[in-house]
Amino acid sequence: MTHTLSTATERTIRPARNLTGSLQIPGDKSISHRYALLGALAEGVSRLTNFSTGADCASSLECARQLGARVTRSENTVEIEGCAGALHAPAAALDCGNSGSTMRMLCGLLAPQSGEFVLFGDASLSRRPMERVRKPLIQMGASIDLTEGHAPITLHGTALQGITYATPVPSAQVKTALLFAGLQATGVTTVREAVRTRDHGELALRAFGAEIERTLDQVSIRGGQKLHGIQAAVPGDLSSAAFFLCAAALFPGSNLILDRLGMNPTRASLLDVLTGLGARINVLDLEEENGELTGSLQISAPSEGLGSAEIRGGVAAQLIDELPVLAAIAPYTSGGIRIRDAKELRVKESDRIALVARNLRAMGAEVEEFEDGLDVPGGQKLHGAEIDSGSDHRIAMAFSVAALRAEGETIIHGAEAAAISFPEFFDLLDRIAER
Ligand code: S3P
Repeated sequence: MTHTLSTATERTIRPARNLTGSLQIPGDKSISHRYALLGALAEGVSRLTNFSTGADCASSLECARQLGARVTRSENTVEIEGCAGALHAPAAALDCGNSGSTMRMLCGLLAPQSGEFVLFGDASLSRRPMERVRKPLIQMGASIDLTEGHAPITLHGTALQGITYATPVPSAQVKTALLFAGLQATGVTTVREAVRTRDHGELALRAFGAEIERTLDQVSIRGGQKLHGIQAAVPGDLSSAAFFLCAAALFPGSNLILDRLGMNPTRASLLDVLTGLGARINVLDLEEENGELTGSLQISAPSEGLGSAEIRGGVAAQLIDELPVLAAIAPYTSGGIRIRDAKELRVKESDRIALVARNLRAMGAEVEEFEDGLDVPGGQKLHGAEIDSGSDHRIAMAFSVAALRAEGETIIHGAEAAAISFPEFFDLLDRIAER
C-alpha cells in the first residue's frame, strides 16, 4: 500500500442533462477508519466488507499493519487480526498521508500504549491543527510533542487517567481519540459536546464489545474494557454520495437510486437541506447493523428548480463535509445558499472557504466570503473554467458537480485528489450523467 497519489491529472467535465441510474457507493470513510483502528486493537479477527476504497482509509490500514495487526485485503473486503490490546511500537514513523482522522485518532489510540510512536503526514496534513487533540490527552497524563502545533507528532506511551472534557470546537475526530484513550485509561472518561458530532466512534466501540454511556450532550467510557473482532458490512458513504445527490437535484428529469447508503442520523442533515431546497427523496429498506443505519435512497429534482437554504449553528458542524458541494450548486438555486458558523472549513484539507469562493468566481459566479462562511446568491449562470482543486478531494468533486450545469467545459486541475475518499468518482459520474 502506498500513500502517494498518482501524478497530477486533469479531468474535463462536460455539461449534463440529468443524472439517472442506480449505484452502490463505496464504504463510509469515517466508519472504515474506526473499524480499522479498533480491529487492530481488538482480540481476534475482524472481517469488514465494503471497506472504503479511499487512500485515507488505506493510510489507517497501513498504520494498523505497522502497529502489529495482520491485515489482508481482497478488493473491498479487509481482514484484520488484532493485537489483543497491546500494539507494537514500530521502528519506522507512521505515515498518515492526507488523513486527519488517522492522525488524530491514532493519538488517542497510541498515547496509552507502551513505546514511542512518531506520526507524520503530507504537506496539507502537516498544516492542520493538532493541539486540539494534544490538550485533552495531556490532561489525561499523556506525553505528546507537536511541531509548532502540528505534525510530525511524537507520542511517548504512558498510563492515562480518565477525565471529563468539554470539546471547545465540535470534532468527532477529537471525541473519538479521547474515547480510544479512555478505553485504555483508569477510571471513566467523559466527553461533552455542545453540538452532537457524528457518533461512529461510539457505535464502533459498542460493536467491538465496549460499554458506552450516552446522554444528550455527553458520552462516557470506562477504562480497561477488552474488545473483540467483528464482522461488518460498511454502509455506503453519504458524504461521497452527496456529490451525486446534489448533482441530481440540479436537473428536473434526474432519477438516481443509491443502495445501502449510511443513514446515521448524525450524518444525514444533507437530506434535510436537499428536501428543504425542494428535492424529492425517498428512503427505502432501512436496516441497522452494528448500530449503523443503512437504507436505499431515491432522489429526483423539482421541476420548478431548487429554492434557497440557510445553514448555520450546529447544522453547519454536522454538514461540514457537504458544505463545499452545497456552495458549488448554490448559484443554480433560485434564492441562493448562506453558510455561517463554518470556520472549521478553513482548517480542512485546504482552506475550503477561500478555495470555494475562488473557484466559483472563476466560473463567473458572484460570491461573498466571510470568516466563517459564504453567501452565494441564486439565479446565476456559470461558465466552464479552469478549476484548482488545491489537492483537496472535496473541492475537486464539488466543482465537477458545478461544471455539470455550466455553459461549456470545465477543467479540474488536481483531479487525482478525489481518490483520497472516492477513487471511483469520475467513472461513476460518467456512468450516470446523461448528456
Ligand atoms: C470526521 C470528522 C470531521 C470530518 C472528517 C471526518 C471523522 O472532522 O470533517 O472528514 O471521521 O470523525 P472533525 O472531527 O475535525 O470535525
